[in-house]
Amino acid sequence: MTDSARIPDDFIESLTASAHMVILTGAGVSAESGVPTFRDAQTGLWAKYRPEDLATPQAFARDPELVTRWYDERRVKLASLAPNDGHRAIVAMQRWALSRGKQFTLLTQNVDRLHHAAGSEDVIELHGTLWVWRCESCGVEREERGGPFASHPLRCECGGLRRPGVVWFGEMLPQAALEAAEHAIASCDLFLSIGTSAVVYPAAGFAQAAKARGARVAEFNRDPTPISDLVDWSVQGNSGNSATTLPELMRRLEEN
Ligand code: OAD
Repeated sequence: MTDSARIPDDFIESLTASAHMVILTGAGVSAESGVPTFRDAQTGLWAKYRPEDLATPQAFARDPELVTRWYDERRVKLASLAPNDGHRAIVAMQRWALSRGKQFTLLTQNVDRLHHAAGSEDVIELHGTLWVWRCESCGVEREERGGPFASHPLRCECGGLRRPGVVWFGEMLPQAALEAAEHAIASCDLFLSIGTSAVVYPAAGFAQAAKARGARVAEFNRDPTPISDLVDWSVQGNSGNSATTLPELMRRLEEN
């Protein structure tokens, strides 16, 4: 079966009729760009480490060199990667929605900024970004787009340690992003969860919250997830190549 056959007609109808659509993306959207997801058993980012050894404030306090090296390697690798057809389909969806007077909100857990690179606008970054590093002491933030850091850990002029601007386990989401997400969820009538394992809260609870507020909910994912049973439509398949679910969805929308 092709992915096109998996996109239900009544989902296209709901999307066409909706007034405010919210998309939540996760690592699966960037998989075909070459960004490892977090939880794939062999290739996932946590395959060699436990998340709590790398992605917590405690890990950084314990071993800032290891944590900085790990994020620096990811940052340098990301610099060579480009958005895929799934990212581009989401850009097209935003333009399609806005040109029809609909509201459109894009929430992402991804820290890679590939949505921005593809051309998405007003992206709400729930877990921060790997490109901006912040001094733990003076709070100064600076974008880091160059090659590997000369030394690990990274130090600020003030002497403080600089850390990646991502949200670690146990940390609060950026207040403005969280408020914008909650506001969008409260007013959307269609919620689409794409390429996220839906296990990390609070983002994992957004689909359920949207449903409780009366929105129709869809999931596009390679695999079933904990929210697959609660959604109105679960579309299984990869999202990021021209023949896969998101580009196909966009093609179907343009026919309408
Ligand atoms: P995960 O790695 O947990 O999940 C990726 C999801 O994408 C899985 O459900 C896969 O089945 C699916 N997937 C993989 N390849 C795909 C493809 N080509 N097309 C469509 N789906 C695909 O990543 P996230 O859900 O984003 O947080 O993880 C959420 C958070 O957990 C991350 O932001 C990060 C992580 O720990 C922090 O670091 C705080």
